[in-house]
Order: sequence, then structure tokens, then C-alpha cells
Amino acid sequence: MRTPLIAGNWKMNLDHLQAIALVQKLAWTLQDSGHDPKAVEVAVFPPFTDLRSVQTLIAAERFELALGAQDLSPYESGAYTGDVSGAFLKALAAAYVIVGHSERRAMHGETDEIVNAKALAALKHDLVPVVCVGETAEDLERHGSSAVPVAQVRTALLGVPDDADVVVAYEPVWAIGSGRAATPDTAQEVCAALRAAIAEDHGQAFADRTRLLYGGSVKSGNIASFMHRPDVDGALVGGASLDPGEFAAIARFPKHVSID
Ligand code: PGA
Repeated sequence: MRTPLIAGNWKMNLDHLQAIALVQKLAWTLQDSGHDPKAVEVAVFPPFTDLRSVQTLIAAERFELALGAQDLSPYESGAYTGDVSGAFLKALAAAYVIVGHSERRAMHGETDEIVNAKALAALKHDLVPVVCVGETAEDLERHGSSAVPVAQVRTALLGVPDDADVVVAYEPVWAIGSGRAATPDTAQEVCAALRAAIAEDHGQAFADRTRLLYGGSVKSGNIASFMHRPDVDGALVGGASLDPGEFAAIARFPKHVSID
């Protein structure tokens, strides 16, 4: 009922020429491996400066890839130097936008309230926000794994209409880029807690259709063990999304044998 989503967050990597090369290789690798876009949705999240080139390529070649951006402004337009509006992203055929990635929370002071404003701005422009939540190593020690992500998601989704389409990514901060992923049991436990909180705040139907991703050191070798958990509907992949062969292998997870 929920189509799995494999999302590649490139972060600040690859200029527009490198982006074209990667997307071409990724699309061909997916096609060669018999990828079925109806069974598994694949999306790429390049830097802003690559979006136009990637969008043109996807449209011209009819690649079965969705496009997303890594951030957006909570505002429409105006004196916000360096920011990019949801309207501009929509005009480039972006379908998704990441909001509240832990790197933005840590390095750009994004609070839960700002993340909420950005999620609402995304929805206003018909973009699906990929709302990132997750505990730091210190949070984990103090509060366990679920409390902080659950509190973050509740604030991030305040005022979101009941018919909205959102994606939530659970990314423990200590697992990002560390090579040390959460266990599939922990990912399942936190995603189940997130879904329960979303159901309480927005109704069971909203919670049932919302896709919950796990992120943090996802690779082709561990994806199947996450995807076999009932509340994990996909992955937000950082480092491994920069290697088209590896990223395509992650998107082929239904063909993997579970290692757990
Ligand atoms: P990683 O990053 O896959 O490199 O751990 C995940 C993310 O930050 O979204």
C-alpha cells in the first residue's frame, strides 16, 4: 500500500556536469537491472545549482526518477539573500524537498518551528516535504531513541492539513556518515513510535499512508534488513547515493536476501 521510496541526498557534492553524468549512469543501471518504478520509487536530491540540468535530462530521456531539493525558504519571495523559494523549486518540476536535515539543524540553527514553517511552505507549493528527525548521541544516552524524534515530528507537522502528502525520515544523527547504522530493530521501533504519534495528531489514515524512511549509513549490504521491517518504507541515503552502482543496488533491495 505504501510505495517504498529510495531517496539520494547528495548534500554539497557534484556540480551540474557531474550531476548529469551520475543521473545518466544511475538511470541506465536501473533500467538494465529491470527496475520497476511502480514497485520502488527512486528520487535524487542534488544541490540547487544542479536542479535545472537534472530536470532537463530527466524530462528529455523520460527517466523514471523523481527530483527533490535539499532545502527551501519558509518565505515566498523577497529580501532573503541566498534563499530559494518553494515556488522556484516547483517551477523546476521538483516533487520533493528535504526539510530539517540534521546538518541544517546543527549548522544553520534550524529549530523545530523553522522546520514546521518550511514543511508548510513546501506543501503550499505542492512539494512533498521530506521531514528529517533524529536524536544525537547525547539525546540517545539521556532519552533513548524515540523521544526526541517523536517530539520533533509533532512540531514539524503542526498545522499540516489532513489530506497532505508528507514523508518523514528517521535519521539518528550519530549514524549519519559514520558507517555505524542503527539496528533494524531500533529503526522499526522508532518508526512505529513516529507513526503512532502521527496517527494521534493527524488521524490513522494520514499515518497509514505516510512513508517513513530510515537514514544513516544505509548501503546495499544493509538495506534489505531495514526494508523488511513493517514501519520502514524506504531510505534516505547520503554517501552511498554518490555512487550510481551502489545507489541502484540499494533500490534493488527487494531482490536482496535479508541478512538479519
Ligand atoms: P549517510 O547520510 O547515508 O551518508 O549516512 C544520510 C543523510 O544524511 O541523509
